[in-house]
Amino acid sequence: MTKKKVVLAYSGGLDTSVAIKWLQEKYNLEVVTLAVDLGQPGDLDAIKQKALLIGAKESYVIDAKKEFIKEFILPALKANAVYEGKYPLATALARPLIAKHLVEIANKSGADFVAHGSTGKGNDQVRFEVSIASLDPSIKVIAPIREWSMSRDESMQYAEKHGIPVPTTKKSPYSTDENLWGRSCECGVLEDPAKEPPEDAYSWTKSPLKASDKPEYVVIEFTEGSPVGLNGKQIDTMNLIKTLNELGGKHRVGRVDMVENRLVGIKSREIYECPAAVILIQAHRELEALTLERDLAHFKLLLEHKYAELIYYGQWYSPLKEALDSFMEKTQKKVTGKVKMKLYKGSNFVVERESKESLYDFSLATYEAADAFSQDSAKGFIELFGLPLKVWAKRQRKGKGKGRG
Ligand code: ARG
Repeated sequence: MTKKKVVLAYSGGLDTSVAIKWLQEKYNLEVVTLAVDLGQPGDLDAIKQKALLIGAKESYVIDAKKEFIKEFILPALKANAVYEGKYPLATALARPLIAKHLVEIANKSGADFVAHGSTGKGNDQVRFEVSIASLDPSIKVIAPIREWSMSRDESMQYAEKHGIPVPTTKKSPYSTDENLWGRSCECGVLEDPAKEPPEDAYSWTKSPLKASDKPEYVVIEFTEGSPVGLNGKQIDTMNLIKTLNELGGKHRVGRVDMVENRLVGIKSREIYECPAAVILIQAHRELEALTLERDLAHFKLLLEHKYAELIYYGQWYSPLKEALDSFMEKTQKKVTGKVKMKLYKGSNFVVERESKESLYDFSLATYEAADAFSQDSAKGFIELFGLPLKVWAKRQRKGKGKGRG
């Protein structure tokens, strides 16, 4: 009988390397591995070879950076997607895309199973499994790390016993995840939210003490909500993101230290480094402030909150997310223009903004002679606008015997 197959999301690290052998031993499956390039560091070709060496039947590496930008990062930027006001969702956005490729390879190679290396305490297991189920409900998922109860030492022993290369360098005290949109870092001393993170927890951003002494200006140009230019030159989004990660990092911009609510009910302390995401979202919001009509701007804020929550909760492939995308896309038609920002010692202020679609009307805003706003009309407006409260207040006073009429 031919063996059944499993497609394993493979990072090249100890856990997923052990998982190759473990899936073979425990479930008697043929293992196909998949590593997806989303801009994380590391040699993916070496990772591909490592999987084969350990015993994978096939090993795929897919460069999904462009797809990540076009289908995930840009829609998230248009929605200013930030979880709990702080986290631009780099890890959360990557999971549905990895899931999509897992499902595609499973279908191509006739695998009944897919496997991922997430633990049983985090959000990522939810994101993988909910995404996989939404894309192909017939696929069965195995989560080896959630299932086996091996400590790190035990996995090292398992690896040694099975001829799996074990890490030679000392294990970092942190658990990290990186892609173009940011770096997530948790565990170790970070688990005490009452303690300041040590500098070695950061890798993309300079410490404020070492951050550049000179402020740096960046001008970001958007067309219909998508960033297209930097400092007066057209630039493709991948280069723009890489450049802003570097520039922002130099000025310590994009560090986030937060306690967040995981979907599985745990509060966790995590730090993020996401200079490009922070800069682009701020610039984008600013351009919206200039170009979106007031009610639309206010309503969009409510939906942005929901959009970010859907990403965090792993509901990327949901009909609600799809419908929200249409809304977000529609709001972007006039979000064209430029925003100038100043990066300095960890701060990123917007200092200038302009747009041919601007709704800012100087003659209405000015306090100078050119004023065209009808101040006389303000009186009647306020009377009617405040009428319900006035009626209510009168009623309150009567109730307390203070009525004057
Ligand atoms: N807390 C973040 C999230 O749920 C990031 C988790 C990433 N994992 C890590 N090893 N830091 O999206």
